Amino acid sequence: MNIKTKIGYVLIALVGVILLFFLMDAGEKEVYQTVDKEMPTHYNGEQFAGSQSCIPCHQNIYKTHINTPHFNTSAIASEETLKGPFDNPSHEVELIDGVARMIHEGDTYYQTISSKTTGEIMDKSRLDIVVGSGVKGQSYLTFKEDFLTQLQLSYFTLTDDFINSPGYPNYKFNRSVTDNCIKCHVTFAKNGDFKGNTNIYERESFIYGIDCERCHGPLKKHVDYRTGNPQQLDEDVVIKIDTLARQLKMDICVQCHSGLRAIQIKDNPFSFVTGERLDDYAKNYNFGRPEAQLDVHGNQYGLLKSSECYKNSSTLSCTTCHDPHQGQRGQTEHFNSKCIECHMSPKDLHDGSGLNLSDLNNCISCHMPLFPSQTMKVQLEDNAKETSVNIRTHLIGIYVDGILQKQAN
Ligand code: HEC
Ligand code: HEC
Ligand code: HEC
Ligand code: HEC
Ligand code: HEC
Ligand code: HEC
Ligand code: HEC
Repeated sequence: MNIKTKIGYVLIALVGVILLFFLMDAGEKEVYQTVDKEMPTHYNGEQFAGSQSCIPCHQNIYKTHINTPHFNTSAIASEETLKGPFDNPSHEVELIDGVARMIHEGDTYYQTISSKTTGEIMDKSRLDIVVGSGVKGQSYLTFKEDFLTQLQLSYFTLTDDFINSPGYPNYKFNRSVTDNCIKCHVTFAKNGDFKGNTNIYERESFIYGIDCERCHGPLKKHVDYRTGNPQQLDEDVVIKIDTLARQLKMDICVQCHSGLRAIQIKDNPFSFVTGERLDDYAKNYNFGRPEAQLDVHGNQYGLLKSSECYKNSSTLSCTTCHDPHQGQRGQTEHFNSKCIECHMSPKDLHDGSGLNLSDLNNCISCHMPLFPSQTMKVQLEDNAKETSVNIRTHLIGIYVDGILQKQAN
């Protein structure tokens, strides 16, 4: 091969690579953004990579993940991320000492509180961060200078209206948003205080939504390691969750689904990473009373753990029924099929129960019934009855008229 042919080949290869690069780039831009910000470093010293960097190798998981309530549970407030009747000024909320309204000036959204008597605006706060995907509702956080606080109003999906935030007394109460509030709704955020006790944050450190690396840990090293050599068989930092003991596997979900876990024993709420023991980090005030907390900020873990299914099986875990990468709300058949994997002949189980044996398909309707939420409810003006969100209990058992029967055997 002479030198000219060599240069020719090199040139053709180069043009090819450049073309491919542009093609890929153009193709991806339509659907995805690139990781457009500097990613923070976790307290364990590892750097986050951002979920967009997972796309080349885990595209299918990424695609379903971005539509989950997890991924969408917090975001910078914007037209795309805010639900609710912002364009309709009649949706105001009367407080004892004022009237709260939501308004927007172009792309910027505000909550105003004005005096009932003079109409004078007493407070105008920008909606900076939205919390909640909107399955049940959304709350709003604002930076007052550098201090993060929760706003008076929330959005209640069931009535498509704004309400006084649950647990919020009237104006002017400011709920400081310490780590204790956002620890379950963002992937990462650095508080001004290591323990997470202030409401001052490093704003650039926020990774909104519950993203891959909240459950898998910061993975820049994994991305770097795998990029260019996917077949390499050496040690990879990524943890294979299916090799973990059940409790450690559960602990990934338990961080956020076992009540508020407001007692921080060690480090801070963002220190825990998958593979560690959660009980070393945090616990609940009323530990041992999971049923007391059946609510929007409920304790699915405590309830499940009290169920005979869990106690009598060594494998049942959250991911037996839930695919962590997909929204599955409403997929009743999927959930019922999980029951049958262990309870293989439902008809025999109900023999002599007096139930119509041809009507047993919907296991969860009887054994994981819905109960009204204690906090996510609202009194409608022209209707004395309270409207509540329904919550699915994770205390699997035998219920008659909503009352748990003494357990079988
Ligand atoms: C350049 C390709 C590449 C990129 C980018 C990449 N991964 Fe991976 N990942 C792999 C390969 C290859 C494996 C090993 C698969 C196996 O063992 O079957 C893997 C394994 C994993 C596993 C463990 C799977 C198991 O066996 O339990 C997780 C979790 C994971 N990746 C998450 C991520 C996340 C999150 C990101 C983005 C932050 C990411 N990966 C980015 C290639 C990649
Ligand atoms: C211990 C973790 C945890 C803490 C702390 C927490 N949340 Fe939540 N939050 C959750 C979980 C889990 C859900 C979903 C529960 C469910 O569907 O049963 C949720 C649901 C919500 C929802 C409804 C979202 C929707 O669309 O369904 C809103 C709004 C919300 N939280 C706001 C807040 C605010 C505001 C704070 C701070 C005052 C807060 N949360 C503190 C874990 C937490
Ligand atoms: C809510 C927590 C959570 C989030 C968010 C999450 N994962 Fe996972 N992921 C898990 C759990 C738990 C498992 C183990 C599943 C099991 O035990 O069946 C897993 C398994 C995996 C696996 C290996 C098994 C498989 O299905 O291929 C890969 C790869 C993976 N996740 C990548 C990702 C990527 C990429 C993202 C973001 C786009 C992501 N995960 C987001 C919890 C999560
Ligand atoms: C960092 C906190 C966090 C972790 C970790 C977490 N979740 Fe969640 N989860 C939430 C919050 C917050 C919501 C409410 C999202 C919303 O609608 O705004 C939620 C919602 C859900 C829902 C309801 C989804 C729907 O369709 O409405 C399920 C199911 C769920 N989580 C299961 C899991 C499982 C299983 C795991 C472990 C693999 C897990 N979660 C890990 C915080 C967490
Ligand atoms: C991983 C296996 C497993 C899965 C999945 C499972 N169970 Fe169970 N369940 C058990 C075991 C083991 C028991 C203990 C009694 C027995 O051996 O039948 C049990 C007990 C029960 C009981 C008796 C409760 C009591 O208080 O006596 C009911 C009712 C029940 N399961 C319903 C369900 C329903 C409904 C589902 C699906 C939502 C389900 N189970 C999923 C394993 C499982
Ligand atoms: C035996 C099956 C099963 C197991 C195990 C299980 N869940 Fe569920 N979960 C369900 C069903 C069924 C629903 C209702 C889904 C729907 O509304 O369509 C549900 C709903 C949820 C919701 C939404 C609650 C609501 O009412 O809005 C959350 C959050 C959740 N699960 C978290 C968890 C966590 C965390 C674990 C582990 C501690 C877990 N689940 C284990 C079956 C299960
Ligand atoms: C219409 C409500 C209803 C439906 C639907 C239903 N069950 Fe039951 N189930 C009951 C009642 C009530 C009992 C208690 C029966 C008794 O005491 O004889 C029971 C008992 C059980 C038991 C305990 C049996 C024992 O003796 O320990 C299991 C396990 C069970 N059901 C699983 C299932 C599964 C799996 C499905 C779905 C295929 C299902 N059930 C559907 C109402 C229902």
